[in-house]
Amino acid sequence: MTDAKPFLRALMGQAAWPPPIWLMRQAGRYLPEYRAVRARVPDFISLCTTPELAAEVTLQPIRRYGFDAAILFSDILVVPWALGQDLRFVEGEGPRLPPIRDADDLAVLDPARLEASVAPVMETVVRVRAALSSTSTTLIGFAGAPFTVACYMVEGGGSRDFATVRAMAYAQPEVFAALMETLVQATIAYLDLQIRAGAETVMLFDSWAGVLSPPLFDRHVVEPTRRIVTAIRDRHPTIPIIGFPRLASTMLPRYVATGVNGIGMDTGMDPAYAAGVVPKSIALQGNLDPMALVAGGDALHAEVDAVLAPMRGRPYIFNLGHGIVPQTNPDHVAALIAQVRASKA
Ligand code: CP3
Repeated sequence: MTDAKPFLRALMGQAAWPPPIWLMRQAGRYLPEYRAVRARVPDFISLCTTPELAAEVTLQPIRRYGFDAAILFSDILVVPWALGQDLRFVEGEGPRLPPIRDADDLAVLDPARLEASVAPVMETVVRVRAALSSTSTTLIGFAGAPFTVACYMVEGGGSRDFATVRAMAYAQPEVFAALMETLVQATIAYLDLQIRAGAETVMLFDSWAGVLSPPLFDRHVVEPTRRIVTAIRDRHPTIPIIGFPRLASTMLPRYVATGVNGIGMDTGMDPAYAAGVVPKSIALQGNLDPMALVAGGDALHAEVDAVLAPMRGRPYIFNLGHGIVPQTNPDHVAALIAQVRASKA
C-alpha cells in the first residue's frame, strides 16, 4: 500500500502533505503545444478518436508540469456519439446534437455500437498508460455522469438553465427513465473498457447535478451514480472512483451514499463545509477558482492558502473548482504547482 502512487494513496483514504495535484482541463487551449496539435485535425471529435494525437495531448501537461495524474483526453459527449447520436462541436459555441425529446427519438441510440465506436479511445488509454509506466503519475479515465450527459442529449447542446431536460424529468418520467437507464448501462460498459485498457481510477463528471431539486438529485444523480459505482467495484474492486457533483451545495451530504472514494468540490463549495459533512474515509478534491489562476500573483497565492487550510489532516487532492479556461497564462500554472508542493503541513 505504501508503494502506491501519491494520487492513489489519497483515494485509499490516506492523508498526506503536500497533497497530490492535477487540474481539470489540464490538456487544452491554454497550452500552445495543444493548439498546435489541435490545428492538425479538422474537428474536436477527430482529436478524441485519433489515438496518437489524443495520447500526445494527454501527456503534454505531464511533460511540462509533472502533475500527479494524467486524465485521458476525450470528452463526456463521446458516449452519446458512440451510441449513435450525431455530435458536432461548433467553434466558439460548444457542442451541438439533434435533441432527444420523446420516446421515438430514443430509437437513434444503439448500445450495440458502443464498444466498436470507442475502440480508438481505448487505444489512447493503452498508449498513455505505457508512456507513464516509468513515472509516479496516475492515469485517470472518465465519463460524464448520466444526468449531465442527458442534459446535453435532451437540450441538444449547452443551456443557461437546462429547462427542457428538467421539465422532461417531471412531465415524461418514462422517457427520461429509459434514457437514464441506457446511459447507466453505457457508462458502466465504457468505464469497464477504460479500466481494462489501463485506467487506474475513473472520474464521473456530473457538471449540472446541482440544477436539480433534492428529490430529483437523489433519483437522477445519487442513485445512478451508486449503481455505476457498485457495478465497477464489483468488476474491479481495487479501482477507486471519483465523483464530481458540481453545484451540489447543501445536497453534498446526499452524495456520500453513492459510495465513491473521492468527491470533487466545485468553486462555490466551502471546503470547510465539505470537510465537515464528508467522512474522512473519502478523499476531497478541489476547488481553486479557475479565475484566480487567470489572475495569478498575490490574489492566486491567497486563494490557494484558503483552499488548502481546511484540507490538512484528511485525504485530499488539489484541483480547480472547474476546468482551466483558455485565457490562463501557463506560467501561472507552474507557480500554482510550486506553491502547493511547498506548502507546509
Ligand atoms: O484535460 C482534461 O480535463 C481531459 C479532457 C476533457 C475534455 N472535456 C476536453 C475538451 C474532459 C474531462 C472534459 C469533460 C467535459 N466535457 C465536461 C465535464 C466537465 C465540465 O467542464 O463541466 C463537459 C460538460 C463537457 C462537454 C463539452 N466539451 C463542452 C461544453 C465543450 C465546449 C466548451 C469548450 O470548452 O470549448 C467541450 C469541448 C472540449 N472538451 C474542449 C476540450 C479541451 C475544447 C475543444 C477544443 O479544443 O476545440
